[in-house]
Amino acid sequence: MTSSILVTGASGRLGGDIARRLHAHGRSVRRLTRRPDHLPPLPGGEVVTGGYDDVEALRRAVDGVDAVFVVSLPGGSERVARHEEALRAAAGAGVAHVVYLSLLGAGADSGSPQGRWHHETEQALRGLLPRRWTSVRAGLHTQALLTSVGIVEGTALHAPAGNGAVAAVDRRDLAPVITRILLDGSHRGTALDVTGPALLDWPAVAAARGLVHVDADPAGFADRLRERGAPAHFVEGVLGLFADVRAGRLAVVSDAVTDVGGVLPRTLRESLEEDGPGDGGRRLVREFVAALDAHRPEAAGAVVAPDYRQHNAGVGAGRAGLVAATAAFLGAAPDLVADVSSLVETDQLVAATIRWTTGGRSWSSHDLWRHDGRQLLEHWDDVDPAALTRRLRPAG
Ligand SMILES: NC(=O)c1ccc[n+]([C@@H]2O[C@H](COP(=O)([O-])OP(=O)(O)OC[C@H]3O[C@@H](n4cnc5c(N)ncnc54)[C@H](OP(=O)(O)O)[C@@H]3O)[C@@H](O)[C@H]2O)c1
Repeated sequence: MTSSILVTGASGRLGGDIARRLHAHGRSVRRLTRRPDHLPPLPGGEVVTGGYDDVEALRRAVDGVDAVFVVSLPGGSERVARHEEALRAAAGAGVAHVVYLSLLGAGADSGSPQGRWHHETEQALRGLLPRRWTSVRAGLHTQALLTSVGIVEGTALHAPAGNGAVAAVDRRDLAPVITRILLDGSHRGTALDVTGPALLDWPAVAAARGLVHVDADPAGFADRLRERGAPAHFVEGVLGLFADVRAGRLAVVSDAVTDVGGVLPRTLRESLEEDGPGDGGRRLVREFVAALDAHRPEAAGAVVAPDYRQHNAGVGAGRAGLVAATAAFLGAAPDLVADVSSLVETDQLVAATIRWTTGGRSWSSHDLWRHDGRQLLEHWDDVDPAALTRRLRPAG
């Protein structure tokens, strides 16, 4: 019997996705939460109620597990002690592998307090769990980059970024990396940088939002944040972040999303399109796969044309045929996880490799779509869905 993996932060976006993925890979998952009513269902999964400040709950949570994912908490310096409680519990229980969510550029000399706090937790990780730790140093999330880093006035994005650049990572691309490390027990004794695919400077970030970057003086920028009611710790954090950006400390690009997670990292354009209105074949395929991953056949149907042409004898005609086949497929694979692992687009065609995981097994399909930029019109693949559904759901 395989032992469990403990996932903390499992009511949150990242921890929730990791728990779901571990389950699809056939692992038994235990989840720690202070709010069990906020957990999505996970068949067979154990739940321990409590947080990092509840030593007794932590002790129960780590008892007998093989590996632990320790999410870092939002907040100020007080979280270092909370992280250490979680690490101490794992060390005390003899857990074989602890994977901690850290921050790119974490170090004693980091310009940002966040970087220094993550460094302190990493020091505790090394000390308490020698060679049994992995620190996943995630870059700035694309979602944070696009929404909160800078002040927008009219068409100007004010930010004291100088000529600095970051390779922001879409937060949805972190879970495949962390899941793979937990499954394999790999990268022990290592801090692994996880970033997006390309460096972006602030003029590029501003342009993606239809804005123009105005380089701001750090002191004046801080004053304007305060005038807008930003609390002192927030101002200190943002200024420290920009000090690191200007110093080039965060200008790092890693291949971990592809090499470890096995998925194609989202570009800034793809993140923007997936989070808001947009068009183009890549966006359509991303949206289609995301709908399957979220187990929403109707949402997958909404991406395709009403007279969708499906070159697959096992799927009925049009959008209705696709939705029916998708519903049957998802019914047979209730824990299905779907990831895009490659994507190529021409004017009218998109080719993709999609990795599917369910019931502890993974396989890839190769798919080709014709599109008009607004909808997927026609599809070819190398999958026989009827045979696949029968295999996933044996007769009876
Ligand atoms: N690099 C970046 O740009 C960036 C941006 C955003 C976030 N982050 C980091 O990524 C982490 C995860 O992001 P997310 O989007 O998954 O966050 P999220 O959806 O807000 O989830 C945060 C999780 O933290 C848990 N938590 C909060 N306080 C806790 C405590 N005292 N003890 C135990 N668990 C506690 C919550 O669990 P319960 O409430 O169920 O107990 C929740 O599941 C954040 O916490 C932050 O450290 C980094």
